[in-house]
Amino acid sequence: MERVDKIISNQTDYTRSDVKKLIKSKKIMVNNIIIDKSDIKVDIEKDTISIDGINVVYKKNVYLILNKPAGYISATEDRKMPTVLDIVSGDYGNRNLFPVGRLDKDTTGLMILTDDGDFAHKILSPKKDSKKIYIATIDIPVTTEMKIGFEKGIKLIDGECKTSKLEIIDKYIAKVTLTEGKYHQIKRMFGCYGAKVTKLKRIQIGDFCLPENLTEGDYRELTQEELKLVQGIK
Ligand code: URA
Repeated sequence: MERVDKIISNQTDYTRSDVKKLIKSKKIMVNNIIIDKSDIKVDIEKDTISIDGINVVYKKNVYLILNKPAGYISATEDRKMPTVLDIVSGDYGNRNLFPVGRLDKDTTGLMILTDDGDFAHKILSPKKDSKKIYIATIDIPVTTEMKIGFEKGIKLIDGECKTSKLEIIDKYIAKVTLTEGKYHQIKRMFGCYGAKVTKLKRIQIGDFCLPENLTEGDYRELTQEELKLVQGIK
């Protein structure tokens, strides 16, 4: 059982003080009965809440897919720089969302935001070996030497990378599949060959690909089917 004002502020864009006002103007009903207090306890499994005649749909957790633009950091807050949370907070400001894993500030593409810690833990767990696929553009031609080295496992100062896959897409463009996430990993792996990554975009997590119709800066909720693909559940 939870307080009605807490449930409404978690599930909608209304704040607790909005809820107080709505209650005063007799707009909130629990099981079709107008309520007059914001501390009424509600069982979300059984009771229905409505605001102005519209039922509040209860969602335990939220899972968003964002096509991250460059210039945003993968954190929940920062004193100086805009974060990926700033992009979605207009719609989901009442949820304690956080990004699942990190992308560099200048990296674009597929990013998942959620308030489900267990889910994030499963995706990020090193045991899970969840694959992440990136398109990297570098400043020198991609070579088969790089491809072989990536497959063998590049040695970085903080340890040897797991075997990764490099497909040559174009002279300066490669598709890279990682199953781990070391700090600046792709940039540092190419750095071992004297190459600088000039563009980096994540296009896939698990079996889930960044939808083509989701343009940079756009986000939406993931469907149940998409969630399974992210988790690699067939
Ligand atoms: N590797 C990097 O170097 N940067 C990222 O953002 C992701 C992987």
